[in-house]
Formats: sequence, structure tokens, C-alpha cells
Amino acid sequence: STKPRLMSGMQPSADSLHLGNYIGALLSWKELQETHEAFYMLADLHAITVPQEPAALRENTRRTVAQYIAAGIEPSKSTLFVQSHVPAHAELAWVLNTITGFGEAGRMTQFKDKSAKQGSDSTSVGLFTYPILQAGDILLYNAVEVPVGEDQRQHIELTRDLATRFNSRFGDTFVVPEPYILKATAKIYDLQNPASKMSKSAESTAGIIWMLDEPSVTQKKIMRAVTDAEGGVVYDPATKAGVSNLLTIYSVLSGQSIASIEAEFAGRGYGDFKKALAEVVIGTLAPMRERALELLADPAELDRILNAAADRANEVAQATLDTVYDRIGL
Ligand code: ADP
Ligand code: NA
Repeated sequence: STKPRLMSGMQPSADSLHLGNYIGALLSWKELQETHEAFYMLADLHAITVPQEPAALRENTRRTVAQYIAAGIEPSKSTLFVQSHVPAHAELAWVLNTITGFGEAGRMTQFKDKSAKQGSDSTSVGLFTYPILQAGDILLYNAVEVPVGEDQRQHIELTRDLATRFNSRFGDTFVVPEPYILKATAKIYDLQNPASKMSKSAESTAGIIWMLDEPSVTQKKIMRAVTDAEGGVVYDPATKAGVSNLLTIYSVLSGQSIASIEAEFAGRGYGDFKKALAEVVIGTLAPMRERALELLADPAELDRILNAAADRANEVAQATLDTVYDRIGL
């Protein structure tokens, strides 16, 4: 392929993706697979840096893959693979560990935040070296571009530093990747708590639209979404966070502008608007849910897809690792 290589990953850490993941990540990934040779990775080795229940991890990985495919990541266009199916990830991470400074790794703010929450005795060394594993994920595929959110910028900088350091010590080996900060995709907020983003780690799931929710559940969650006492389907995130969030969702999924939705619902109540929104959301999610459940009901087909992707990923990753071992004398 002559398209630029791209690598991105997501952790299989919940049994269902939510509407925020779909709008904030999957819609871009779907678009990017048309213009790039995309490697999309289910980061199960990253997931085990915090405790996981084995059966749930295995199941969540498969469910996440099924949802990606259902959301439009096409196995014929993208290499959608599971990280642990490609041993080169763990092997390159070890090599990169040996050229990373302890202080350099210690400056990663995401680790500082996460470990501060957990306390140092329940924080694993794996969580500490997580960004080094992530660097290896990217460098194995000689990805030119790495689509990430702003919060991942520091990890991409580390990846660039490690690639440059390796290249200067051992000879040109790695492509130094460019962060491709995703163009401001809409941020979706919790329907019950519109001050917080919709997140799988929210305390209550009442305000989260899961991709695998039954349509009747989605309908209920939308009808119960927090709004305000003022009335008026008007976009104003500062004073009408709940309604503005619903307008964003409506707009992204329908392709209609916020202004035209406001005009359509001028003088009408929140109930009408929510009913229409539920139709739009269910219209998008219900076919995906069906497709995901179909795939999950056919484990052999899912295995076939994953095995083909692992073959492709191994071919590329192993070639890079062979060069690395050769360069460093292994
Ligand atoms: P969560 O917050 O549920 O744990 P992740 O951190 O696993 O979600 O995010 C996976 C991807 O989905 C990231 O690219 C992230 O930017 C996107 N994403 C997650 N939540 C939202 C949201 N509420 N709105 C928009 N994008 C989101
Ligand atoms: Na998160």
C-alpha cells in the first residue's frame, strides 16, 4: 500500500463501548481507514497494567472487536488486531525499556495521576512502563501518523525521543512518528451529569448510552436525560449543558447543523426533542448492535477475522523486531 501508515489503539476495558467512544473515536477511525493503511489495536497488554478478571478481559476483548467491526472498521480495509496476538509488542517494549531513562519515564503525567489515585503499593511497575510499551506499539509498524487525543501528546513525544535515540545509537531503524491530534471531535457528556464526559468509569451508568444497550433502554435513558427548568431547545453549553449535549449528539448523528435543529424545535418542549433524538440515536446504534451480536454469536467467524489480522500484524511487526535485534546484537 502507498497510503501512509497509521496506528491507534483502544483498551478492551469494558464490555460495551459508549456513544462518546463512537462519536469521539470510532467515527474518525472509520474515516481514516479510507486514506491510511490503518493498524487498530485492542490493547490487552496495556489493560493488565491494572487488575483484570481473566474471563472478563477475554470476553471484553472479543466484544470490543465485534463492536469496532459493527461500527464500520472493516477487516478488509484495516488491520484490527489484538495486541497479545503479536509477541513483538512485549519484546520491543523490553528493548525500549533498556534505552529509557528512569527519570524520563517518571515524568509521565498520566502515570503520576493514575498512581496517585491508586497508592504506590497497588501501582504496578507495568503501569509505570506503560508508555514504553505504547512507544513500541507505534514503532513496530513504522507508523507515520498516530491519531490521539491531546492527553496522549506526552506519550507520543516519548515515542519520538526513543525512536530518535535508538536511530542515533544503532542506525536508522524507526520512523519517527508525528502525533496526529484528532481534529476536535465532539465531546459527549454524561446524560445524568452533563458536567462530566460520558465515561465507562463513571460511578453510575444511568447517563451512559452503551452501544449494546437494547433500544428500549436507550430510549429511556434519553427521555430521562437531565435538562433544565428554563425550557427551549437552545445550544448554550455554559447555562444549558444538558440540552447542549443532546443537541451535539443529534447534530453529529443526523448531520444536521445545530442551528437547523434549534429552528426545527423552536417553541416545542424537551419531550418532543428527546423523542426525536432517541429515534436518531437508535437509528444509528440499533443496526450496529445487531451486527455486533451476530458476530458474537459466531465465534468461528470472529476468530477467523482476528487470526487474519494477527497474521498481517505479525508480518509487519516481526520484520521490525528482526531489524532491531540485529542492530543491537541479539
Ligand atoms: P472512557 O473515558 O470511557 O474510559 P476511553 O478513555 O477508553 O473512554 O476513550 C477511548 C476513546 O474514546 C478515546 O479516543 C477518547 O477520546 C474517546 N472518548 C471517550 N469518551 C468520550 C466522550 N465522552 N466524548 C468523546 N470522545 C470520547
Ligand atoms: Na478513560
